[in-house]
Amino acid sequence: MNKAIVIDHPLIKHKLSIMRKKETPSPLFRNLLREISLLMGYEVTRDLALKNINIETPVAKTVASKLAGRRMCIFSILRAGEGLAQGLLDLIPTAKVGHIGLYRDPNDLRAVEYYFKAPGHLEERFNLVVDPMLATGNSAIAALDRIKQAGAKDITFLCLLAAPEGIKALSDAHPDIKIYTTAIDERLNDKSYIVPGLGDAGDRIFGTL
Ligand code: URA
Repeated sequence: MNKAIVIDHPLIKHKLSIMRKKETPSPLFRNLLREISLLMGYEVTRDLALKNINIETPVAKTVASKLAGRRMCIFSILRAGEGLAQGLLDLIPTAKVGHIGLYRDPNDLRAVEYYFKAPGHLEERFNLVVDPMLATGNSAIAALDRIKQAGAKDITFLCLLAAPEGIKALSDAHPDIKIYTTAIDERLNDKSYIVPGLGDAGDRIFGTL
């Protein structure tokens, strides 16, 4: 059932522990999330194809590597996705950025779309969909439904923390999508927060507690 890939690295673990602490202030929380996004970006782009190019260094001609040019799109699930997307965009500045806005219906926790904007040719791109928290999976599933409907085929989902419930729901709904996370926590509580988690990621990133 668990098809999430856990990016397990001492630097990530250390930074994540600071993020989890309730007293960690927003500026530090944001910085740590950005730093972790760079470390995760390193891992999720590991299989990007390369091609050989001929270059000349100040010393000699040589054959070097260049990304083979399959265009990339980072999809930020608003608003907390922004906390991961900005670092990834620094790492891959030529990526295009899509946004999807969803809110949780307070009655049934269903994801309702209020915004969608994507670059063209999604079907040719490596699409990296980001949201720090995979809790019930409802938002991620709705976002992925919509991104597929817009033409995307090669999609990877990246989150900071995941609940087993969210991984199962997302794997059942989208078995073709790879999920990357830095930790799988215990469970969801009765308000669908991840336990132990880190609270509301959007509030902690933007200081809206
Ligand atoms: N979204 C959050 O920001 N935190 C959770 O624990 C669950 C969903």
